[in-house]
Amino acid sequence: MTRHFLRDDDLLPAEQAEVLDLAEAMKKDPYGYRPFAGPQTVAVLFDKHSTRTRVSFAVGIGELGGLPLVIDAGSSQMGRGESIEDTAKVLERQVGAIVWRTFGQERIEAMASASSVPVVNALTDEFHPCQILADLQTVREEFGRTAGLTLAYYGDGANNMAHSYLLGGATAGMDVRICAPEGHRPDPAVLARAAGIGEATGARVSVTADPLEAAAGAHVVATDTWVSMGQEEGKDERIAALMPYQVGAEVMAAAADDAIVLHCLPAYRGLEIAAEVLDGPRSRVWDQAENRRHAQKAVLHWLAEQSRRPA
Ligand code: CP
Ligand code: NVA
Repeated sequence: MTRHFLRDDDLLPAEQAEVLDLAEAMKKDPYGYRPFAGPQTVAVLFDKHSTRTRVSFAVGIGELGGLPLVIDAGSSQMGRGESIEDTAKVLERQVGAIVWRTFGQERIEAMASASSVPVVNALTDEFHPCQILADLQTVREEFGRTAGLTLAYYGDGANNMAHSYLLGGATAGMDVRICAPEGHRPDPAVLARAAGIGEATGARVSVTADPLEAAAGAHVVATDTWVSMGQEEGKDERIAALMPYQVGAEVMAAAADDAIVLHCLPAYRGLEIAAEVLDGPRSRVWDQAENRRHAQKAVLHWLAEQSRRPA
């Protein structure tokens, strides 16, 4: 049965751990795993800008023995109105997997429903699950585990990163605290889903408007841009509303002494994060960016294997 990775909770806790183990092994032996040797092609489609995702998928697919076909989706016939389903039917006969960065989650779900090859979410408006796997890999490298740790996320609590931290963090057994003002809080359905996952993994999820309460004892302090791609309208109001949620020295002083700082990047120093924190000793953002490649290779490898199994 074809497996896809469209949201963080598409992986059960044990499956997420398997993928993270594989990512760790692949980081140590980058050329030892060749699921796409042949080479098989993997389509990597972008409806939005990207640096890290574009590069890490292209390089990673090459390391897996495959050929990355990176397409600016607007320049494909989808940009002129060809349906997602028809595009899937064409691609599935040419490529071993489809990776897509797009707008609404319903678009990638439509692609997956029509595709017999694995579809991977490279960011939608609602979720960024590949990023969270890389973040969890970074957390494991620092602390040797994820379960029982606390992650505090600041700023835009309604964006893809906040939602993916809730689902992916809860799957990994981490407590996830979202620190955001009214009007910038997570989708209640995602929050409820994360709480449900937490019942099985021991994770607790919460939302607060108090930056110091969220930081108290946190092992991981995370943030993201306040203006996600596609949200440029009303930018000034968003920045004004989120300014009290900047990750700065005070937040870091309230977190655990050995807390690490994550940011999926690109970062806007002086807005969501103070330069001294992003560039400071607790920051792990460059490891995090590198781990995109290892985590995504593991996902592609894992999905290919699962999809080959009989239903
Ligand atoms: N973090 C991330 O997804 O970066 P890009 O937008 O550069 O791909
Ligand atoms: N929330 C950001 C993440 C960028 C990698 C966005 O969607 O633009």
